[in-house]
Amino acid sequence: MARLAIKGGEAVRTKAWQTWPIKGEREEELLLQVLRSGDWAAGNRPMEEEFCAKFAAFSRANHCVCLMNGTVTLQLALEALDIGAGDEVIVPGYTWQATAAACLDVNAIPIIVDVEPETYCIDPDLVEAAITPRTKAIIPVHLYGSMADMDRIMDIARKHDLKVVEDCAQSHGSRWREMGVGVIGDIGSFSMQHSKVITSGEGGVCLTNDEYLYDRLAALRHCGRPRQGEVSPIQSGNYRMTEFQAAVLLAQLERLEEQTNRRDENAIYLNSRLAQIPGITPMLRRPQVTRQAYFSFVFRYDQTVWGAPRRAFLQALSAEINLGPWIIFEPLNKATLYNPQTKKRHHWSEDYWQAIDPARFDLPVCDKAYGEECVAFHHPFLLGTKADMDDFVDGVAKVFDCRAELADA
Ligand SMILES: Cc1ncc(COP(=O)(O)O)c(C=O)c1O
Repeated sequence: MARLAIKGGEAVRTKAWQTWPIKGEREEELLLQVLRSGDWAAGNRPMEEEFCAKFAAFSRANHCVCLMNGTVTLQLALEALDIGAGDEVIVPGYTWQATAAACLDVNAIPIIVDVEPETYCIDPDLVEAAITPRTKAIIPVHLYGSMADMDRIMDIARKHDLKVVEDCAQSHGSRWREMGVGVIGDIGSFSMQHSKVITSGEGGVCLTNDEYLYDRLAALRHCGRPRQGEVSPIQSGNYRMTEFQAAVLLAQLERLEEQTNRRDENAIYLNSRLAQIPGITPMLRRPQVTRQAYFSFVFRYDQTVWGAPRRAFLQALSAEINLGPWIIFEPLNKATLYNPQTKKRHHWSEDYWQAIDPARFDLPVCDKAYGEECVAFHHPFLLGTKADMDDFVDGVAKVFDCRAELADA
């Protein structure tokens, strides 16, 4: 019987994997073009306009607005939809804290609900149960390598007259019945931070198909200035993206279509093989998903089948395949970096202060995902060959075969 690499056996793979970000001469060329032009000002400049047009086409959207990051995109999306003081916004408990923090930034109340175990995306039944007369919006997050159930969410939103902001920070290029992610709801919010599938180090965009919301977003990002007088000036700050960021994104975008397809193809293959291994459950891909983007490749680990905690499995697997696991999120009701009651500005009424306490929400599915079940790997490895994917599965299968050794590893 084979011996685990952590026990001195031969590893399945020692070869390195694809690293991130992928960059090339095209980034250099476009960056130098901006540098030499001296046209460094942000706001409706040539690189930004070209990127907006191309990213909108890639995403099958009508309008794109470039912003500083994928946190202010959420904030300005809520502001564009006129969501503010005391309004309730329903968010999932399993996400990066920015999804809920953006609600606080517009004085709204994030109502945190649990996720579906099969996708780790917001549970539509719990969304419906959480609706009150104060509810104004839902923010589904398309998390890791899954899409939220947008048919159900849009039905609920229409029935209760709610707005939908899709948090697509992790989902550039996904498609739901061939519709682009981000324009199924009212506004889509994207992040171009360093770890994302298209990156300029920091950056973000909002997409919308609605002309009025486009005007609002364009004004909100630009100190409130209206685009050619379509709306009257509104109060806002400076949230513009620079031309240097837009130049890098333009170059990155040239590879995104091919990379998105390759990741999806490899993930489908991985899932089909991993599903054969006991105690491993691939994430649910609903038939409406016609293309799935991957920020992380995730599956569910059942420690009762393996007889060992996830930590032991991950240590052994990393040694076998030379690839470490990626970050998973803490549930928002106990996340280290989500502390609404540490900011005096949030204490504008006693009721609000109580309402934003995350500890009042119960999130058992998030707890299980974070505590024992969710296994994630960052997206670059999905750009490998089929043989690379076989190494990954062979590593998992070997650790399963040797699982008796995990107990004392
Ligand atoms: C789901 C989600 N929403 C929002 C953000 C915030 O994006 P940014 O880091 O660009 O502010 C992130 C970033 O990781 C994210 O994963």
